[in-house]
Amino acid sequence: MEQYAIKGGNPLVGEVEIGGAKNAALPILAASVMTDETVYIDNMPDVRDINVLLSAMSGIGVMVKRTSRHSVTLNAANISNLVVEDENIKKIRASYYLIGALLGKYKHAEVVLPGGCDIGCRAIDQHIKGFKALGAEVIIEHGLIKTKAERLVGSHIFMDVSSVGATINVMMAAAMAEGMTTIENAAKEPHVVDLANFLNSMGANIKGAGTDVIRIKGVEKLHGTEYTIIPDQIEAGTFMFAAAVTKGDVTVKNVIPKHLESISAKLLEIGCEIEEADDCLRVVASKPLMHTHVKTLPYPGFPTDMQPQITVALALSKGTSIVTESIFENRFKYVDELTRMGASIKVEGNTAIIDGVQRYTGASISAPDLRAGAALVMAALSAEGFSVVDDIHYIERGYEDFHLKLQNLGAQIELVNTERELQKFKLKIG
Ligand code: EPZ
Repeated sequence: MEQYAIKGGNPLVGEVEIGGAKNAALPILAASVMTDETVYIDNMPDVRDINVLLSAMSGIGVMVKRTSRHSVTLNAANISNLVVEDENIKKIRASYYLIGALLGKYKHAEVVLPGGCDIGCRAIDQHIKGFKALGAEVIIEHGLIKTKAERLVGSHIFMDVSSVGATINVMMAAAMAEGMTTIENAAKEPHVVDLANFLNSMGANIKGAGTDVIRIKGVEKLHGTEYTIIPDQIEAGTFMFAAAVTKGDVTVKNVIPKHLESISAKLLEIGCEIEEADDCLRVVASKPLMHTHVKTLPYPGFPTDMQPQITVALALSKGTSIVTESIFENRFKYVDELTRMGASIKVEGNTAIIDGVQRYTGASISAPDLRAGAALVMAALSAEGFSVVDDIHYIERGYEDFHLKLQNLGAQIELVNTERELQKFKLKIG
């Protein structure tokens, strides 16, 4: 079983290249089935969730060709099946993007109900409401969401919650519906904008992505395109907080600083220095960290996908901090693991009350989900002594070469497969 073996204590120092955004790449790959022409996608992260989606797409007849580690060409002219039942696809949340994409183009899709990280109840009522508003029938049967329509007709849809997934799914289906669709209370995340830009580059007519009202004028046909995915906001934010936690000096390269504003603002509040250039940000943590409060919110607020990482930093900050999770109700599961490393955190409902401690101590811990897993690695990197992090398959869902990028910044971390390899690491590091 793969684990990370870590000896903490080294400040992270240096530069790290940020990859393409997983949560933009997933809907963009799905949307590429909406044309019979070839689509070329660049800056695609080589992470597990992407590979699972690509394999499910191959399974229904999409021609998928990796032209390099980070680029792929896709051609969906010969799709043979509108039923996506791939065994692995259940495990990823983004499986549901194939519903909007296939429904938009073929007016029919059947896809297994999505899985994904266990971070709370992850409803799909807003997706279903959107599909129905466009004229589709939707039923859930034998673990599949089945949708069908004679024709899709533009509609006015008010989302009850700001949902990234529902906004994206409805936007895809509406791109090839007849007439105008308006999505109100739309999600504004950078990946929503990236998908809209991608669809527009295929000939769609989508306006307003990035605001809370998106207008989509349906078109009959979409064509092939070449597209480069935006940098990953959360990968960048994770390395920025890793600099803070290890008292380091890290420059994240190939980022869009605007996407990182809420993250930079919190780092400044807790006492880090930030230098910004066109496409990079430097985080220097030379002073003791200070407490603050934070509430997760839809973009441009502080992202829920950065909540465990900021908690790890605040648990090492002087004073009392409060973290409120307002998006997913089950996103504090990692706190028990952090407590075993010496953190003092009390969780009440969706709030964590944190009394900063001086240091963490190394322990054997398990990653409960993707972002919490990365945050626990950060804690281990700053801890006194050795740690072993289990269940790192969660981390591999969304971080490419995580341990290699950390090694390049001076971290003492290794991927080990056996007890023998673990002992070897301990002997080597001393
Ligand atoms: C996306 O999930 C991301 N996943 C998540 O990233 C991210 O945490 C989340 O957006 C919020 O930013 C992908 O992009 C693949 P939502 P998604 O629909 O689309 C409620 C990561 O670590 N809701 O915006 O599933 C829902 O319960 C992952 O990379 C409904 O009530 O999130 C939640 O409270 C984890 N009904 C809120 O909306 C619905 O129909 C936001 O969820 C849909 C959602």
